[in-house]
Amino acid sequence: MQPAPIAILGATGFIGRHLAARLQAKGIPVTGISRSPKADVAGISRWQTPDTLDLAHHQAVVNLSGERVDCRWTPAQKIILERSRIEVTERLVGHLRSLDPASRPAVLLNGSGIGYYGDGGDTPLDESAPAGTDFLAKLCVDWEDAALEATTFDTRVVLLRTGVVLGKGGAAFDKLRKLFALGLGGNLGSGRQWMPWIHLDDEISAIVHAIETPILHGPLNLAAPQPERNADFTRKLAAALHRPAFFHAPSFALKLALGEFANALLTGQRAVPAALTTSGLTFRHPTLDSALADLLG
Ligand SMILES: NC(=O)c1ccc[n+]([C@@H]2O[C@H](COP(=O)([O-])OP(=O)(O)OC[C@H]3O[C@@H](n4cnc5c(N)ncnc54)[C@H](OP(=O)(O)O)[C@@H]3O)[C@@H](O)[C@H]2O)c1
Repeated sequence: MQPAPIAILGATGFIGRHLAARLQAKGIPVTGISRSPKADVAGISRWQTPDTLDLAHHQAVVNLSGERVDCRWTPAQKIILERSRIEVTERLVGHLRSLDPASRPAVLLNGSGIGYYGDGGDTPLDESAPAGTDFLAKLCVDWEDAALEATTFDTRVVLLRTGVVLGKGGAAFDKLRKLFALGLGGNLGSGRQWMPWIHLDDEISAIVHAIETPILHGPLNLAAPQPERNADFTRKLAAALHRPAFFHAPSFALKLALGEFANALLTGQRAVPAALTTSGLTFRHPTLDSALADLLG
């Protein structure tokens, strides 16, 4: 018998499309939910739009919707960033609530970010660490709260606090690779801030692991066990590309160019994936050297 389908909101995105392909390879039908379904996404059995949502008889829902945060956060852009996460999640949870309990998906995996913790300094941060107070942290808190509403009707909710996902085709990695390949790489600010990163393969494995592990609920840090300081990340990426990395983007210049978003680059989180490792996930790329060798080798 075919397993029940899994639905992905944001299935056209970087993480969503790779998750769809992995689930399809496991023989699981995938329902893609998109404002503009794209036929070129491999692994999608059928499409729905947010207006035609019907998630009855799905085993799980993964919500990866959200406007990209790597932009200047004008007041208008902040509203777009909030609505694309909080309102989308509220509508999704409202739909789940409306379903007959017998046909309702058992688990909601909802996007979030390691930015939840704000500026963590040098303190190792597991899932019990408190939330930060900056814009990104508050956005994650509100996004998570919207998803946690589904626990009121006994749906298991997992919050995917994701670090910077390193994978080909991902905006962050592609930008960094191009910049460093041109010899234009360098430290951001002091370079002492921690960068929680995760290889795309491990990101997808972690999401599948969370779907398949019923004891997991609440926040999960999706970040490699060995985060790097920005300066070490810079040195290792430059070495892997055999390029120098002499440039240095001073804090004031980043703030001038990027506004408030610069703070997200100049501060960081020494996140540790405590819940994933204690629940048995083995990282394929626990170190940056291994991830870069795979991505650039
Ligand atoms: N990639 C990372 O390094 C990273 C790190 C931390 C957290 N995250 C979070 O994880 C989620 C997925 O990341 P990703 O890299 O796959 O993102 P992505 O490639 O930008 O895809 C996000 C998806 O969200 C949907 N979306 C965009 N704007 C929307 C809006 N205004 N309203 C409703 N839906 C909208 C889009 O789907 P349609 O256009 O098809 O509707 C898009 O495919 C995001 O929420 C992101 O913030 C990602």
